[in-house]
Amino acid sequence: MVDKEDLRIAIGADHAGFPLKQALIDSVLKDYEVIDLGTNSTDPVDYPDIARKVATVVSAGRAKMGILICGTGIGMAIAAGKVRRIRAARCTEPFSAELSRRHNDANVLCLGARVTGVEMAKRTVEVWLNTPFDGGRHARRVEKIE
Ligand code: RB5
Repeated sequence: MVDKEDLRIAIGADHAGFPLKQALIDSVLKDYEVIDLGTNSTDPVDYPDIARKVATVVSAGRAKMGILICGTGIGMAIAAGKVRRIRAARCTEPFSAELSRRHNDANVLCLGARVTGVEMAKRTVEVWLNTPFDGGRHARRVEKIE
């Protein structure tokens, strides 16, 4: 279990992910310190710009974890994964989210607003934020990625 007060979360979305971003901020993230890096409307924006903002904040240690939302979660995961120290996991449901923390120590969760429904997305975020890294043999593997 992660202490909510110690956990600053950076979040960002493109136009496709904007409504889900707001829904998450108003529900599962309401007790966390959230750095909202946009976008703030459904006007089209380019997902790599938002991915870079969130990934940079997490990479620099200004937030412990990041959440990125686009239509599929795929573009955000590809873009965020280019940033040093970022392990971005595109998850569509809680099981993948759990394993992305336990085995991969994922520090950015990528969601697809056109793929995963709001309630499933909320549960996915909840599980992701509350699942610790298993370490052990998984730490060796994560080090090899670095
Ligand atoms: C925007 O239409 C869409 O391409 C974007 O949200 C995302 O799904 C990219 O991976």
